[in-house]
This record gives sequence, C-alpha cells and structure tokens, in this order.
Amino acid sequence: MNVIVVSGTPGTGKTEIAKTLAKKLNYEYADVNRLIKENKLSEKYDRDKDCEIVDVKKLSRFLVNLIKKSKKNLVIDSHLSHHLPKKYVDLCIITKCDLKELNKRLKKRKYSKEKIRENLDSEIFEVCLNEAAEKGHTVIILDTTGRTPSKVIDKDTIEILQHI
Ligand SMILES: Nc1ncnc2c1ncn2[C@@H]1O[C@H](COP(=O)(O)OP(=O)(O)OP(=O)(O)O)[C@@H](O)[C@H]1O
Ligand SMILES: [Mg+2]
Repeated sequence: MNVIVVSGTPGTGKTEIAKTLAKKLNYEYADVNRLIKENKLSEKYDRDKDCEIVDVKKLSRFLVNLIKKSKKNLVIDSHLSHHLPKKYVDLCIITKCDLKELNKRLKKRKYSKEKIRENLDSEIFEVCLNEAAEKGHTVIILDTTGRTPSKVIDKDTIEILQHI
C-alpha cells in the first residue's frame, strides 16, 4: 500500500494536484477537510482567522488509522498531512506557487488581508517544506504557477511516481 501526502500553503494547488494525481495513478483521494468535518476533528472555529482549529496530533492519529484500514493506495490532501510520521508516508509532495499568483488566488477567495498576509508569509518562509524535511519525509516540490495540473504532473512525473 502506497501513501502520497500533498501539503503546501493554502492556495498553492494541493487539491487540484492531489485529485489529478489520484486519477492518473488510480489512487484513492482523501479529502482531509471533509474528513475533519465529518469526524468532528476540529477543536473550535477561529472567528478572527476564519478557519477551523485542528489538533495536529489528533488528526495524525485519525489519518494513521485511515492508512492502516485502507486497502487502496492513497493520496492525502491537506496542509497538515506532512505532520504524519515518516513510516506511514512513501512520498510527500509540497505544492508551491509564485507569490504574485498566490496573492491573486487568495484575493479571489475573498480572504481577509490578514489571512492573505499570513499565507504569503508561510509561503515565503516555506513552512510546510521545512516541517516536512524536519519529519524526514522524501519530498518532491511541484510548482503550480501558471500551469494546469496535467502540465505539472506530466508523463515523466507519473513515470517516477509509479515506482515509489
Ligand atoms: N496548476 C494550477 N494552475 C493554475 N491555477 C491553479 C493551479 N492549481 C490550482 N490553481 C488555482 O488556485 C486556486 C487554489 O487551488 P487549490 O484549491 O487546489 O489550492 P489548495 O492548496 O488545495 O488550497 P487549500 O489549502 O485552501 O485547500 C484554485 O482557484 C485553482 O483553480
Ligand atoms: Mg484544497
């Protein structure tokens, strides 16, 4: 059973990449945002930041169980997925995006100025990438700037991923 986690700053293209990957590799797509809602994994809602507060340890425990139960290969889509222990993860993909384009994408979502700033900072400091490296994951960085998901995940990339 193979597990690919897709992490990265909000808006950098995780969901598009994860769904495209799942289709091309015939893996099951795990939508963590939906799992958080369905399984009440959120601690509370942060009004100021307009986001759910999730206990990373609790989420990781839940995802480890999901991996253990799964009979199919999995692509896990979440900016928290890189917190999973290395032994359950075969590959960690980090999506990235040019700052100008990320700014545009987040504005389109009508995020507040503060929330946009916070996400841009997190992209500048490569928070997800650094945390993923600290966890010891094997990391591939995919830049989604100005490219459709099928262009980002081209034949060569699929070829490599089929051998993990
Ligand atoms: N490869 C791409 N080329 C152009 N636009 C893209 C690409 N990938 C994503 N986008 C656009 O960027 C926006 C954010 O993409 P997406 O929803 O996949 O990000 P995300 O990382 O999953 O965000 P979140 O963490 O909030 O779930 C979407 O509006 C999408 O259409
Ligand atoms: Mg998403």
